Amino acid sequence: MLRERLKIEAEIIEAAKRVEARYHREEQQLALTDANAAAEFFRAIAPSGKRLHANVDEPRVMKYIRFVEGHVLKWRLFTPYMSGLRKAFEIGVGPGYLFRIMIDLYGTDMRGCDLAPTKNRVFRDLREELGISARVMTHKVVAGRDIPIPEGSEAVLAFWTVFTETFSLDDHKWFVAQCREKLVGPKKLVLLFNTGGYDECPEIFEWYQTFGEFPLLTEGADLSAGPREKKMSQRDKAAFCVAEL
Ligand SMILES: C[S@@+](CC[C@H](N)C(=O)[O-])C[C@H]1O[C@@H](n2cnc3c(N)ncnc32)[C@H](O)[C@@H]1O
Repeated sequence: MLRERLKIEAEIIEAAKRVEARYHREEQQLALTDANAAAEFFRAIAPSGKRLHANVDEPRVMKYIRFVEGHVLKWRLFTPYMSGLRKAFEIGVGPGYLFRIMIDLYGTDMRGCDLAPTKNRVFRDLREELGISARVMTHKVVAGRDIPIPEGSEAVLAFWTVFTETFSLDDHKWFVAQCREKLVGPKKLVLLFNTGGYDECPEIFEWYQTFGEFPLLTEGADLSAGPREKKMSQRDKAAFCVAEL
């Protein structure tokens, strides 16, 4: 372990709080001149298709800032399955909390991809504040399109995946073949599927079971590792897959 975990987590939480403070200054400044623009501020920085379902009038993605402590601590449950990796590629980096923890905790040479940062200022600002923007390329993972996994990567990591939501079994087979072809060394695949879609297709789950492990289901994992994990459902546990290809 390179650095003390608590310090790493505290630094990430502070970084998110700095971004939040900037947003509030900007919103207040706007309110002085343009009340309507101020009211729309959070919507404008990260438009969300799920507006009606948001708890407050701001995009769901703001949860990574509002509830940053939980979103940082939740990684305690998963990182032990990723220790010792020299180089890894994360698909859907999002706020970058796992990304930064992997660098600081294990010294992993992290690279990753996500959708265009211009579409989501919250993720863009968080990754900038965490100092990882240059390591995250813009790439939308689509079935059948080459994934730019950098040479020398030992693992592909993807958590709460959105890109797999519409994947058929054949698309999953293509995805795993891409990872197998491009990875080196342990050729590790660490996935936490967004449960929508994935667990509705038993043949996909059954296929991953032929070569992957589902440690949260089988090992009686210590779910007290982070406050959010205590609430993990069987569905969520069944969505966490670790495989050596
Ligand atoms: C639910 S968020 C999870 C973020 C992060 N993995 C985490 O667990 O905190 C899904 C992420 O995947 C990204 N994403 C969605 N579709 C994608 C695609 N087709 N290719 C790459 N990234 C995608 C989103 O922009 C977002 O950052």
